[in-house]
Amino acid sequence: MKATITSIARYLPPNVYDNHWFEDKIDTNDEWIRTRTGIRERRFLGEGGTSDLIVPAAKEVLQRRGISAEEIDVIIVCTVTPDNFFPSTAATVQRKIGATNAWGFDLSGACSGFLYGLWTGAKMVEGGVKKVLVCGGDKMSSILNFEDRATCVLFGDGAGVVLLEPNPDDTHGIMDSILKMDGNGGQYLYMPAGGSVKPPTKETVENKEHYVFQDGQTVFKSAVVGMANVSAEIMEKNNLRADDVSWLVPHQANLRIIDATANRMGLSKEKVVVNIDRYGNTTAGTIPICLSELYDEGKLDTGDNLILSSFGAGYTWGSVFLKWGMKKTNS
Ligand code: UT7
Repeated sequence: MKATITSIARYLPPNVYDNHWFEDKIDTNDEWIRTRTGIRERRFLGEGGTSDLIVPAAKEVLQRRGISAEEIDVIIVCTVTPDNFFPSTAATVQRKIGATNAWGFDLSGACSGFLYGLWTGAKMVEGGVKKVLVCGGDKMSSILNFEDRATCVLFGDGAGVVLLEPNPDDTHGIMDSILKMDGNGGQYLYMPAGGSVKPPTKETVENKEHYVFQDGQTVFKSAVVGMANVSAEIMEKNNLRADDVSWLVPHQANLRIIDATANRMGLSKEKVVVNIDRYGNTTAGTIPICLSELYDEGKLDTGDNLILSSFGAGYTWGSVFLKWGMKKTNS
């Protein structure tokens, strides 16, 4: 028995900020951002927290599946921008959607959070849990230093949610994963203060230590190798040739990393999902948002082989092999 996705939706806040928006605030320009990253615009939420990105998507997931919130057993919220340290954002989502019979937790896996969560949720379903909501979302604008051109242009806000349920046979579902972590990479992409090591003080705030710090070049080099290798590895492990793969659904951090991964897998551009141009890097949101768009555009059908791949802070990285189980939409 496998766990399979039976409903999916996304939420992107309405306010769009194109690259030109940054030009009179910091020393950057549209051309640099486009050519180095592939990003043209992103969305920022404004008021509210990550739960306000997840809740609209979660409600739509329930409505599309035609079930009530009370039927949900577990809520996993993958995020590095929780509404609060505690209670968990999962608890907040539970309250806001009225999933009174669910328990749940937050999962901190940064850009790989959704893949970690998807695999965790799948194992719960295989163990007998009936309905698991796996939510990936981040309000990255809440931890961006808008004076640091090296980071603030890269990220956006957004969320995607999937419902996992049992598929009685093995014909489709979450088939396999290779998930990895290397804590030695932690120093290259992190938030220096605000945690228990360096609780917030006037100085940490003045030093802007509550924002994303990234050594972009170092992360880039590791990401290109890590994401490409793990994607090739999961194909090999499952005897998949390039022709067998319907779609690569990669984390959206940089178009050059995505291209390198696709090359390594021997996939043509037509089989690679890209929306970084419209949303930037929404951290745990990228992969479920991509999947949701792909499905709504009628580009996914039962039996399609998908490789989901990511690389991010931690370092965390990995790939999930997924056989799509829902019928193609007509749109
Ligand atoms: O999702 C989590 C994982 N994260 C990633 O996978 C991100 C990995 N890293 C990257 O995607 C890339 O390293 C970046 C997009 C962050 C940067 O691209 P890069 O090609 O590695 O540029 P760089 O950091 O080597 O910077 C090149 C130049 C520097 O100027 P000098 O030293 O050559 O004069 C930077 O100061 O570009 C400068 N620069 C900018 N210029 C205009 C950095 N940011 C900007 C900017 N606008 N926004």
